[in-house]
Parts: sequence; C-alpha cells; structure tokens
Amino acid sequence: MTDQHSTIESHPLQGQTYPPSDAFRAQANVTDSSVYWRAAQDPEAYWAEQARSLTWTQPFTEVLDWSNPPFARWFGDGKLNVAANCLDRHVAAGLGDRVAFHFEGEPGDTRTITYAELTYEVKRAANMLASLGIGQGDRVAIYMPLIPETIISMLAVARVGAIHSVVFGGFSADSLRSRIDDAEAKLVITADGGFRKGRVSPLKPTVDDALSADTGAELSVEHVLVVQRGENEIDFVEGRDLWWHEEIQAYDGEHTAEGFDAENPLFILYTSGTTGKPKGIVHTSGGYLTQTSTTHRNVFDLKPETDVFWCTADVGWITGHSYVVYGPLANGATQVIYEGTPETPNWGRWWDIVQKYGVTIFYTAPTAIRACMKVGRQVPAEYDLSSIRLLGSVGEPINPEAWRWFREVIGGGEAPIMDTWWQTETGAHMISPLPGLTALKPGSAQIAQPGIAVSVVNEEGERVEPGQSGLLVVEQPWPSMLRTIWGDDQRYIDTYWAKFGDKYFAGDGARLDDDGDIWFLGRVDDVMNVSGHRLSTTEIESALVEHHAVAESAVVGADDETTGQAVVAFVVLKSQQSIVTADDAEAELRKHVAAHIGAIARPRQVFIVNELPKTRSGKIMRRLLKQVAEGKEVGDTQTLADTAVMSTIQDQIRTRA
Ligand code: PRX
Repeated sequence: MTDQHSTIESHPLQGQTYPPSDAFRAQANVTDSSVYWRAAQDPEAYWAEQARSLTWTQPFTEVLDWSNPPFARWFGDGKLNVAANCLDRHVAAGLGDRVAFHFEGEPGDTRTITYAELTYEVKRAANMLASLGIGQGDRVAIYMPLIPETIISMLAVARVGAIHSVVFGGFSADSLRSRIDDAEAKLVITADGGFRKGRVSPLKPTVDDALSADTGAELSVEHVLVVQRGENEIDFVEGRDLWWHEEIQAYDGEHTAEGFDAENPLFILYTSGTTGKPKGIVHTSGGYLTQTSTTHRNVFDLKPETDVFWCTADVGWITGHSYVVYGPLANGATQVIYEGTPETPNWGRWWDIVQKYGVTIFYTAPTAIRACMKVGRQVPAEYDLSSIRLLGSVGEPINPEAWRWFREVIGGGEAPIMDTWWQTETGAHMISPLPGLTALKPGSAQIAQPGIAVSVVNEEGERVEPGQSGLLVVEQPWPSMLRTIWGDDQRYIDTYWAKFGDKYFAGDGARLDDDGDIWFLGRVDDVMNVSGHRLSTTEIESALVEHHAVAESAVVGADDETTGQAVVAFVVLKSQQSIVTADDAEAELRKHVAAHIGAIARPRQVFIVNELPKTRSGKIMRRLLKQVAEGKEVGDTQTLADTAVMSTIQDQIRTRA
C-alpha cells in the first residue's frame, strides 16, 4: 500500500486535470452538477426515479427496505421481467431493427443481430429451457466462449425467472464442479469449444471431467446443452447431453414474459475471497437493472441511437454481466462483442474492429492498455480510430502513464476517460467521474456516483482528513448491491459488515486528496489483482499443497509492469518427493495450479525454498516474500522466529537466477 501511495504522490503531473471540452459538455447526458446534491438529499427518491425508467409489470410502492440490515430489499413490492426490459420493450417501441450486437468471432466470422432477432432467439431459448424443466429459482451454469448464444442463454434464464451462474471458460474442471455443486445447478450450458489464440479451446471435455469427478456431493445436473462452435470432437452422454441447435428446432418465438419480484435472484457469480472457497455473490433483479442501466447511460454518456459501445470484458466476469449484457441492453445500445484475444492474429485486431464497426465508446482494463503500450503506438496508428469519443477503464487503478497513452493514442488526445471503481459485489459503477462534469485526474477514480455514499475511514471507522489514506467504505445501501453470499448469510455478514457494523467494507485501501477525490491503493486483504482478475492467495496455496510433493507454500501478489500484480509462489518440498530439479518442480507446479484452478491463476514464478519466513507465533510473513519477489530491499525481519531465513531464501533465489 505504501509503495503505490508514494508513486502516486510523487508523480510530477499529479496536479494536471482535464476538464470536459465545451463541445463534449454541450452534448453530454448529465451536465447539471446539482444532481449530486439532489441525490444526496434523498437517495431513495433519486433511485426510484431511475427505476421508473424501466418497465414494471407491477409498479413498486416501496423503495428501500433496510429493516433487517445488512439484508437489503429494493423496490420490494414491484415486479418486472429483466429480459423483457432488455428486449421486448425496445421491439415494442419500434426499435426492433436496431443492431444489438455486431459479433466478431476470432477466426473472422461475423454475425449482426438486431433487437428483434435477439428477442426472437431468447424467446425460443426460454421455451427450450422451460421444457427442460427450468423455472423460477432453478440454477443454470453457463460455461461458454463469448458468442451470441452465451448472452441468449443468460437472457433466457432470466426470462423464465431462473438464476444463472456463468463460469469463465478459462476455469478448470475442479473450479467448474465446485461452482456447480455449491449452486446445485440443474442444467449446464456449454459449447464444444471456442476460439482462442488461433485455435479451438475445448470446453465440453472440461464439463465432462467436472461432472464425472467424485466430489462426494450428489450431482445436481440433469442435462448439458451444447452449442456447436469449435466443431472439435466431443463425447456425448446419452440422455444427459443435448445439442442446442437440434433441440431449439422444436421451439418457436412465442413466449410471454412473466413479471417476477424485484428481489428475485438474477444470478450468482463466484469471486475470490480471503479464504480458499470462492464466494457465490448473489444479485437480484430490479435494483441491479436500475443501477447498471443508469450508470451505463450516465458514465458512458450513451446515445443509443448513434453510439457503438464496446466493452472488452468476457461475460464470465461481472464487467461482462453489467456492461455487456444487462446495462447496455436495458438501454437499447448497439454493441460489439469479440470472441478472441487482442493479439490474434496480431496486435492490430482490436483497432481493426474499432475501425470496422465505428466504435464510439471503448471500455477496457489497464492491463490491456499496458500490453498495447508495450507493443507500441505504431500499431493502433495504422487504423482509423476517430470514431472513439469516450474511453473507460476498470479492474485496477490505472497508472497515469497508461491513462495519458490511452487518451492520446486511442482517444485522439480528446476522449474523456472514465476510471470506474466497482466490484463483483457492488454490481455496478460506484465511483467514477461523469464525462460532462468532472475535471479528470489521471490515476484517480475520483467521486461517488449520484445516489451513492462512500467514505475513506480509519480502522475505527472514522472519516480520514483530506490528504490521508484509509479504507474505502460504502455508507448506505445501493440498488445493485449484493444481497448475500449464496447459501452463506453468515459469511456475507462477516466479510462485508462485521468490521464496521453499519458500513460496507470493500477491502480496498484508498487515499482522499485535498479536493476530496479518491485514489485507490490496492487491496488490503489476501486478494490479488492479476490482469484485473481477482485471485485469492489462500486458494492458490491450497492448490499447491494438494500436490503430493509440496509440504508448504506461500503465495504473494508481486507488482508486475503489465498485469498489475503477478502470482509468485514460494514452496517447500517434502523431503521424500519425486521431482528431481528445481526447474522441473517450477514447471510442474505452475502446470498443477493451472489445472487445478485455471490458467489465470498460473504462477509467474515458483521458487523452491528450504523454509518459509514465520513469526514466533507461526504466521507466514508474506510481506517479506513480496519484497523478495519484487526484487526489493527486504524490510524489518526482527519479528521472525529465525532472522536468518530471509537471507537464505534470497541466496537460494539468486543461485537459481
Ligand atoms: O481492488 C478493486 C479493483 O478490483 C476489485 C474488484 O474486483 P472484481 O470484483 O473482480 O471486479 C472487477 C471489475 C469491476 C476492487 O476491490 N478495482 C476495480 N476497479 C478499479 C479497482 N481498483 C482501482 N480502480 C478501479 N477503477
């Protein structure tokens, strides 16, 4: 925390701000700064007004019920259908011919899908789900590449009042199975495979492995629906597995959407916490759709008639749920979705897509921006990016160098950049500039959205003075807040509310500057942020010790130029073990973690050491290991039980290098 702090403080251009241009301000959706004040006076009235822009089958009369904190109910007596809000109402308003998605497959195949077509496909899929016995409250796991059927599946699940649990396609069979078991999913929707880095990456075989594993839990899955995409060879289990394209034939596009309670769960999304077991974050319907659509319209200044919005996130993450699926579709936006990676077939791919579809609003992560910076500005310079008028960043603090490069090279030197801070748990943007109002400060997410109350507090929960650092908290419930952790109300209370009682503890360190703007300093817990993805040190440590040769392990998130943080593991091997050299051990253990959790968790380095640094009470001193992993001077080792252990570790690492 302190290190990042000093980088920000010492940045020579920290004082420079970028107010909106007159031209931008003149056309912006939000131009009256009194919105902050009005929303703060009566947040419930503000959110109720936003919620009324949705279509309710039964209008709500209550706004917030906080009588049983921390369990919130928003718009509790209202009913709506989330999918119909994203689809049917636009068609009914005569917008059926508007493009919902320009889909670009990695091999170069494309599909253009209008709102009318998307509505038709979702209705058919909803009929198919219903006939497979999926109804209100049932859980459906979705394990897919980023193709239109993934979004159709999510919306069809929502349409019948069921609950989706999208599992990112890069997760392993073990991770998939534990999520299926935790949610007791009845149905899995997958594809044979998807395209990644120029080849087919199989998915269905991983589903087969997940479902055949003996986990001790009774298998809840009745059917597996398989979308044909990669055309890779796959096995079929008779009676259980069904081809999507064969099944769907039987269903037409007649389907009347029923209204469900505003608090009907919409989805579960698993995210890493401080313990090994991922948390199933539960989001519900009315409040979630209200805040995702409001922030999508305001923060990105969306003009649905003319904008082409592209959020590069996979729908396996919260960013994809909120700003590829629900927010943009509720607003009737036209979007681009791309299946593959930015470097396939070369680093010009994203910019080629921007040029091809005339993307006007581009939302991505700092890690991707830094990767593009490394490749060099000559690559984007070959494309016409002049359609871009607004940029967004999410996932980790954006360093000022990356901010300036993004604005200059991708944003034509003019596009405002929205640095949006939020989390899987918050469901939607919480802290971000507004493009027509805020004088931007590179590296700072700046201020809370209208209707959202946040503060930076000390350990006692008291607000810190401007210029000081502390912990970020949310002071009042907000519409798109998580409602609980699936099946574990107590963990929900303990993780987010126990620390301060009446305030939501986000787990992020933050500094308040003299203007009251917020600068994020990284996580204060054992959660790492690698390429904008959350990983738990404990989860990777548990995976490592499950390997037969490993006695003990400690994992740290070390600063990394491109990925923000990188996973670095320190491992003590058992004396009787089969791995011969340290090189073999490193390769095998990196592979082991990838197979256990998923490729995103693969350590950048695994160091084999004789011993781990521990305090006298036996606590591993990860802080010291982090310094070693970052090649820094190792700090105070006084509290170690054996003060020599750090120099031994450093010697061992030097010998290896
Ligand atoms: O540490 C913060 C960081 O990402 C965490 C949330 O991760 P996740 O739930 O995976 O959601 C990521 C996408 C919303 C936060 O606790 N984070 C996210 N956005 C920012 C950020 N840190 C600083 N600035 C941001 N803009």
